[in-house]
Amino acid sequence: MRKLLVAANWKMNGRLEQNRALLQSLKNNGLLELNHEVDVLIIPPACYLSQVSQELVGTQVKLGAQNICSWLQDGAFTGEMNAQMMVDLNVSHVLVGHSERRAFCAESDELVAEKTKACLVSGLVPLVCVGETLDEREQGLLQAVLSRQVLTVAKSLDEEALSKVVWAYEPVWAIGTGLTATPEQAQEVHAFIRSLLATVMGQVAADKLHILYGGSVKANNAVELFAQKDIDGGLIGGASLSASDFLGICNAAK
Ligand code: G3P
Repeated sequence: MRKLLVAANWKMNGRLEQNRALLQSLKNNGLLELNHEVDVLIIPPACYLSQVSQELVGTQVKLGAQNICSWLQDGAFTGEMNAQMMVDLNVSHVLVGHSERRAFCAESDELVAEKTKACLVSGLVPLVCVGETLDEREQGLLQAVLSRQVLTVAKSLDEEALSKVVWAYEPVWAIGTGLTATPEQAQEVHAFIRSLLATVMGQVAADKLHILYGGSVKANNAVELFAQKDIDGGLIGGASLSASDFLGICNAAK
């Protein structure tokens, strides 16, 4: 039985006062009581990691980062942050390969694999995002795209490292659009991703992995999505910016 994980990807949103109010509201309305049943992860912009870390002291809510650079060493790389710096800030998870970074920052599958490794050698959990565009789905390329994205990462890791990766399936056409994969569509893809991973690490190990679903998850569709056999929680964008919406989704994971 895999314990569900619900992650709040704030993306490029927030201000000090707004973050404080959101976290207070989450804490005052049940976030802390959820923890024995659901794992919760908050992923703010890097500039607010320290603030959110402070606000989460004494709770079991985990802290995530939205990005790291693939280089492990400190040094001359203006504007970048490495995995060790995230460890220093109490970060436990890092998003890798989000479709927005693949699209806007031209991140390749190979770079995603490098960043995944940088997380793992630093003791961070990489949350590796994969997903197809609408165009790719309509052209019948869904399985080819996912195989490429998943296997480039999976085959670059040894089995022990691979067992520590968390995956997120985020169909690009469902992100921020209000369109959600139906529970059946999502389950089919999650099962396919797990079967790909089983080819690399065996079925028993693949069955232990978490595969989250992301893409317009709301409180009213979360119950059905999370009830699917291979969906182990959610990666939440827009709805994570409202305490009541996010708590609704977390409650759906109980
Ligand atoms: O990483 C979360 C994500 O991309 C989904 O965003 O706004 O559709 O929930 P949203």
